[in-house]
Amino acid sequence: MEPSIGIMDSGVGGLTVAKEIMRQLPNEPLIYFGDTARCPYGPRTAEEVRRFAWEVINFLQEFPLKMLVIACNTVTATMLEEVQQQLPIPVIGVIAPGVRAALQQTQTGRIGVIGTQGTIRSQAYERQLLQQNPTLHVVSLACPAFVPLVEQGRYRSAEAETVVREVLGPLVSEQLDTLILGCTHYPLLAPVIQRVMGEEVRLISSAAETAKDVYHYLKRYQLFHPSTGSGVTRQIFVSGDVRLFKQIAADWFGREFDVTSIHLPQVG
Ligand code: DGL
Repeated sequence: MEPSIGIMDSGVGGLTVAKEIMRQLPNEPLIYFGDTARCPYGPRTAEEVRRFAWEVINFLQEFPLKMLVIACNTVTATMLEEVQQQLPIPVIGVIAPGVRAALQQTQTGRIGVIGTQGTIRSQAYERQLLQQNPTLHVVSLACPAFVPLVEQGRYRSAEAETVVREVLGPLVSEQLDTLILGCTHYPLLAPVIQRVMGEEVRLISSAAETAKDVYHYLKRYQLFHPSTGSGVTRQIFVSGDVRLFKQIAADWFGREFDVTSIHLPQVG
């Protein structure tokens, strides 16, 4: 089997990153794992996130991988360095690319960060933003109500609009010019978030910047897949319900995918 790019997330959110990788690198074989049975990771302890994520990574390592993309902010915030140290292949996360994109976009230096409790508690975004520019005004907010809206396919509902409006209320008066969607699930809510925050606020999803990082790694290590003209292998595995995941994937990509359900130990 040909070496693939492994992509992991706690659920459907990593598809936002997978879509950009497929757009920027259409010849690359991909293997995606969404741990939908145990999503969300955001409210869990770091120890639990670590245990679940390693189970997913160990599953992915049974395939020949040329690099691993941790397409989950919570896992990136909790254990990126640990995974980088232990795997013999390049491993990238989604936080540094999001920080880079926000720094490129902001003009006033007033940046908001929204994410899961785990990501916001880690302060990974603030630390990296302020390290690069200590004069920034950074406001962070955990939005635990957002992920269920996405995982359950309700991201276009009237309920989504109500929830987003209520949760983001404190940020609207902050005069932000840039808002980092610090959770890979949130781009599916982007139209609603944009309406609530106002058209003048730039929304940053790390997906496009992460895909650029993937490109640079493949280039640096000369790992590009030779374009053979035959179909590209893209495999998707989930630990939970296949039907809903397929529906969301079809909505997000505008095409159908085969999705395989794999049982991982249910411990939480
Ligand atoms: N995809 C996760 C992230 O980017 C959010 C979902 C979860 O809480 O597991 O943090």
